[in-house]
Amino acid sequence: MKKYYKKPLKVGIIGTGRISDLHVIEYLSNQSTEIVAVCDSNIERAKQKLIDWNLSDIAIFQDYKDLLKMDEVDLVEILVPHHLHIDVALEAILRKKSISLQKPMCLNISEANKLISEAKKADVSLKIFENFIFYPPVIKAKEIIDEGQIGSPLSIRIKSNPGFSSTAWEVPNDASDWRQNVVKSGGGPLVFDDGHHKFALAWLFMGQAEEIHAWIGHTKATNNFLFDAPAIISFKFMENRIGNLEIVYSPNLDINTKHYAQDDRIEITGTHGILWINRGHGSLGSPPPLVLYKNGKYKNYNDIPSAWENSFINSTRDYINCLLNGKTPRLTGEQGKEILRMALAAELSSSEGRSIKINDERLS
Ligand SMILES: NC(=O)c1ccc[n+]([C@@H]2O[C@H](COP(=O)([O-])OP(=O)(O)OC[C@H]3O[C@@H](n4cnc5c(N)ncnc54)[C@H](O)[C@@H]3O)[C@@H](O)[C@H]2O)c1
Repeated sequence: MKKYYKKPLKVGIIGTGRISDLHVIEYLSNQSTEIVAVCDSNIERAKQKLIDWNLSDIAIFQDYKDLLKMDEVDLVEILVPHHLHIDVALEAILRKKSISLQKPMCLNISEANKLISEAKKADVSLKIFENFIFYPPVIKAKEIIDEGQIGSPLSIRIKSNPGFSSTAWEVPNDASDWRQNVVKSGGGPLVFDDGHHKFALAWLFMGQAEEIHAWIGHTKATNNFLFDAPAIISFKFMENRIGNLEIVYSPNLDINTKHYAQDDRIEITGTHGILWINRGHGSLGSPPPLVLYKNGKYKNYNDIPSAWENSFINSTRDYINCLLNGKTPRLTGEQGKEILRMALAAELSSSEGRSIKINDERLS
């Protein structure tokens, strides 16, 4: 692997759709990076983004293979629909680019294995981009737990609650279309796609699940988008820990957000105390982002940056520092695969109506 890059690190963005706006924030402000090329099969969209991001005179491509042929590109940010992750990432490996690949790394475990082994063979750095684990209230919660302030963690309850918002950003129709096609998305929009972040949180705080049970229903949202909700997913972790992820769509729940109309809430119970993370994509009013209860008292953490974009900024910055200092990224391919396995287990459990062991060979 190219251990130490020269500054500025030259970045190519493949896929300039909805989420790319949050990925470029750090690259545009970090003195150690420079965006040198963008690509989107919808070339007009890519051109518009260059205007939005105030970037002129940089290379622009319709075919990602052309971007990847550019010698000067050190690092590529892969932000395309899920079914394309594997092909784009393999081509990037072939071209010896360092890779930041959005979650889920691919559609199944055999694709994940191929990606990990090809990256290793080619000695290419591979980061699976997961932002929730870089969200400041989550980082602080992990720190508090690691300090032993709630004792040993016993359970995690995660709630994903989409609703409506008059302040949310606009999501283009084509960003919804591929998510409604399981061949392209790999699974449901709330369990497999957004749920990936929640599996990552469960993994971060509790470790890999040993067994997963899921019941996944269906609801039509007001815009006719089919949600895989209500859903309830239960986890059994090592050392007698448990957890769940509950997903409900509340069509008339007013959510304060600049991004997706969704509220996320987490409660972690330990032997001595409890932690609440009170927001994620958006928030219900302005609750303290993090609250700790121990020794009969509540402590509100009001000063933690809690805008959702901070999770993207931190995750991107972490990878830049890894590349500049020859460090291992978070998530690694193997870690990304563990989380993918949890999402696949949930989908399989719901379709079979019984719990699934995480090492079930059908997940491979
Ligand atoms: N971390 C998060 O919270 C988060 C949030 C949203 C999306 N995502 C992930 O980001 C990725 C993109 O999601 P999105 O919401 O931006 O989707 P999107 O549909 O808005 O953007 C995808 C872009 O890829 C382009 N594209 C499609 N095929 C292409 C090809 N062959 N070559 C080049 N460009 C191509 C499309 O034209 C589109 O502009 C997905 O992996 C998704 O899971 C992550």
